[in-house]
Amino acid sequence: MSDKQRVLVLLKPDAVKRHLIGEIVARYEARGLIVRAMELRTIDEQLASQHYAEHIGRPYFEPLVEFITSGPLVAMVLEGRKAIPVVRAMNGSTDCAESAPGTIRGDLGVHYRRNLVHASDSPESAEREIGLWFPHLAPQTDDPQ
Ligand code: CDP
Ligand code: MG
Repeated sequence: MSDKQRVLVLLKPDAVKRHLIGEIVARYEARGLIVRAMELRTIDEQLASQHYAEHIGRPYFEPLVEFITSGPLVAMVLEGRKAIPVVRAMNGSTDCAESAPGTIRGDLGVHYRRNLVHASDSPESAEREIGLWFPHLAPQTDDPQ
């Protein structure tokens, strides 16, 4: 059985505004993850609410939607061995200020909401989020690359 996974990653509007696209993508690529899809886009409230559906009703939900729709972001699908835990570990803790040095959030940010990156947190959420952002992406195969 293959350990290969796909994960939906967002470089949030703060990362794009701060010209950190290259810095962050370089880290994922250097780790050995493969970019399977990538798009720069500005999303509306509808997609934001679908993407963050599990957070509806939380006190931070409205400012989160305002932030994620505030400008262009980069959406991508990364693929690799155990890609979901690998990318989540590389991203660091949600609150940048509490994120370990060496992580993306721990090296590049101090904010909580404006925390640079998103990554799916389970195979189920990865499947749902990839379907939402890249509905036409060809399915994952286990062919050697
Ligand atoms: O992104 P991650 O999975 O690490 O965190 P989350 O708990 O799923 O929260 C989603 C996003 O909501 C975070 O990345 C923050 O941008 C934002 N958030 C916030 O603004 N305030 C909070 N108290 C919690 C999360
Ligand atoms: Mg999350």
